[in-house]
Amino acid sequence: MFNDLYNINIEANISKWDKRSRNYEKGVFDYFRIIQKQVLDLIDFKSDTNFLDIGCATGWAVEYAAAKIKGKGKSIGIDISKQMIKKAITLSRFNNTYYKIADAHKLDFKDNYFDYILCTNSFHHYIYPDRVLKEIHRILKSNGKFYLLDPCTDSLFVRKINSWLQQKEKAHVAFYSTKEISILFSKSNLLHQVKKTKFKILKLYIGKKINPRGVYDGECEIIR
Ligand SMILES: C[S@@+](CC[C@H](N)C(=O)[O-])C[C@H]1O[C@@H](n2cnc3c(N)ncnc32)[C@H](O)[C@@H]1O
Repeated sequence: MFNDLYNINIEANISKWDKRSRNYEKGVFDYFRIIQKQVLDLIDFKSDTNFLDIGCATGWAVEYAAAKIKGKGKSIGIDISKQMIKKAITLSRFNNTYYKIADAHKLDFKDNYFDYILCTNSFHHYIYPDRVLKEIHRILKSNGKFYLLDPCTDSLFVRKINSWLQQKEKAHVAFYSTKEISILFSKSNLLHQVKKTKFKILKLYIGKKINPRGVYDGECEIIR
């Protein structure tokens, strides 16, 4: 797995997001909070819930989840960017939050550990998305839920942005269609798990309500 392609992608992401960490909370990414909040508000957090945000940046979702957990459960954020994690630690307000510099391709957590895993606008940066999904599958409890929020190439507009970013941006790998995502899910075994737990696919439109759509019997939240 650790080939040149992988190294170039990781370096590009570290470099891009280290720089963006300086003013990330004030920037163009504020609309991510709206969609993260919509999804996090669906979760029935308990005092022993273990929550993970993959590609957490400065930790907004981790803190939001931590505020709801209030117990021995943990709210954990990982990110490849050291500067994002440093900032997240500085901004952290709860003692049940944990931040770690880590790569989504190698998640250093025990099997069946998390009740909920979130990944917002980070998945399109992963050079081996199937590998990441396998890791998610491994660390997610069998009745756990994984929320994936990412632009979706079912939309022509997103397809155009995708092609443009693929030419211009080393840190960008790909946005996917619902079909491609479901193929990836089945490769990683997540589909099997998803079926067992009766997850639902949800489509999320920025700034609007989340609309359930039964593309397959799995849970996946995709932004168009
Ligand atoms: C567009 S930002 C989204 C951050 C956050 N989830 C949000 O919604 O505000 C993408 C984040 O993914 C992180 N990232 C990129 N590649 C990664 C990888 N291989 N492992 C972990 N994090 C990664 C970046 O460092 C960056 O913080």
